Amino acid sequence: MSNIKVIITKDYEELSEKAFEVMAEVLRNKPDAVLGLATGSTPIGLYQKMIEDCKNGGISYKKVKTVNLDEYVGLTPNNDQSYRYFMRHNLLDHIDIDLNNTNIENGVAADLPAECARYDALLSTLPRDVQVLGIGANGHIAFNEPGTPFDSQTHVVDLTENTIQMNARFFASEADVPRKALTMGLKGIMEAKKILILASGASKADAVFKTVRGEVTEEVPASILQNHPNCVLIADEEAASLL
Ligand code: GLP
Repeated sequence: MSNIKVIITKDYEELSEKAFEVMAEVLRNKPDAVLGLATGSTPIGLYQKMIEDCKNGGISYKKVKTVNLDEYVGLTPNNDQSYRYFMRHNLLDHIDIDLNNTNIENGVAADLPAECARYDALLSTLPRDVQVLGIGANGHIAFNEPGTPFDSQTHVVDLTENTIQMNARFFASEADVPRKALTMGLKGIMEAKKILILASGASKADAVFKTVRGEVTEEVPASILQNHPNCVLIADEEAASLL
């Protein structure tokens, strides 16, 4: 039996509002919460609501800490395609958070396995109150592609052709998309106290169906969320169309 609580919204705007309600509840209960954050286009609406609310005197992030899921290998934090840059541009620079309290893997570390170990040690000192996730069309979460072991920790991945093609829209050309990334593992993701996974659009419908109703299998990384005791999936009607 899937433990995932599913909320279906009429469109992306309502998805972002509902996601903000979940996030706001976590932060009101715990002003020094640790947030696990995600990149990709799907959480941008949620981040806009967080920014708007903070600017209007709502929730303060002064005591909040963040950890991000993943980062491309070979892109410096100032590269506008890096996930560090994405997070600053889409959220962190626009709320009252101390940037020293925000964490993401270092994609240009000289020793990548050592960087993964550093990140896992950091995660163990920062238990997440909530982890935001998007989902890939093939069911990947963060950069955990199909076949990733459920007990994986932070690791270096070779991105699949499918993911490279999907992410090429953010780059000048497909050739510019990095081939490797550092990603939090599935075990690390499951350690968050609460998971908030967001899916929008028809291209995610198959992945959403398999995540919620399919077999729990490493071939569909997001299906592991069926085993999480506190997972909310918010999908718009198109993404939920096969449920
Ligand atoms: C990338 C990210 C994932 C994200 C996925 C979907 O692969 N590493 O964390 O969930 O893209 O992105 P989008 O929300 O743009 O569809």
